[in-house]
Amino acid sequence: MESALDYWTAKALLDWQIEMGADEAIQDKTVNRYELAGTAPRSADAPQEVTPQPPTDAPRAEPGSAPPPVDAIAAAREAARAAQDLAGLRAAMADFDHCDLKAGARNLVFADGIAGAPVMILGEAPGRDEDREGLPFVGRAGQLLDRMLAAIDRGRDRTEAPVYITNILPWRPPQNRTPDKTEIAMMLPFVERHIQMAAPKILVLMGNTPCQALLGRSGITRMRGHWARALDLPVLPMFHPAYLLRTPAAKREAWADLLTLRARLKDPT
Ligand code: URA
Repeated sequence: MESALDYWTAKALLDWQIEMGADEAIQDKTVNRYELAGTAPRSADAPQEVTPQPPTDAPRAEPGSAPPPVDAIAAAREAARAAQDLAGLRAAMADFDHCDLKAGARNLVFADGIAGAPVMILGEAPGRDEDREGLPFVGRAGQLLDRMLAAIDRGRDRTEAPVYITNILPWRPPQNRTPDKTEIAMMLPFVERHIQMAAPKILVLMGNTPCQALLGRSGITRMRGHWARALDLPVLPMFHPAYLLRTPAAKREAWADLLTLRARLKDPT
């Protein structure tokens, strides 16, 4: 007898597939990508996007009925550019009204750790505990992150071996859903300015969302452990600690990546 999947089971299955790198759409009909308007050449690894076509009888949005996200991105760029220091950047983000997530969040989650640390860690977005406390990575995944960092003698409070921690989104998405591309694009100017001000030597990207934001692609299973570059900095993608909680067998790879990070910190250039 068939039983319908509940929402959380379906989401866990989808998350698992994305973590495994199965991040490209499979459709009923093949898509001729050469015929898609405005298709830019992409690397073989990049997820492909297909513009969904509305059914012919579906109502079409009136031109101008929704504000184009590009306005929000331009506003974010301008606000981020105008900020002079981290306190100013935090205030600019708190003032930014274009992202709907703000309305549903209890707190803006800005950062934790020591700005100026050689390692800056980027996660996805606050969860329930982070939203409540206003600090990144304080829930179960954050506690695992702290243990991982302690294993290579680092920590957010260790002045002699610090890290600095933030997220791509400063507001919790409802039900902890994955941030969408519009939200990421809108908040990216703040993230980039944040990185510029914190001036780390190395960026660590936890999971697919920061990889998508800063490297323009996801597929963490393929990407983890391989150095890349973004904003003229060396970048190390790693499995997200929340994934490691669900998949303890992947801690082996995470440990290898931590050793890679520790070795690079001796000579980060
Ligand atoms: N997951 C994240 O990506 N960030 C947090 O701050 C907490 C959980």
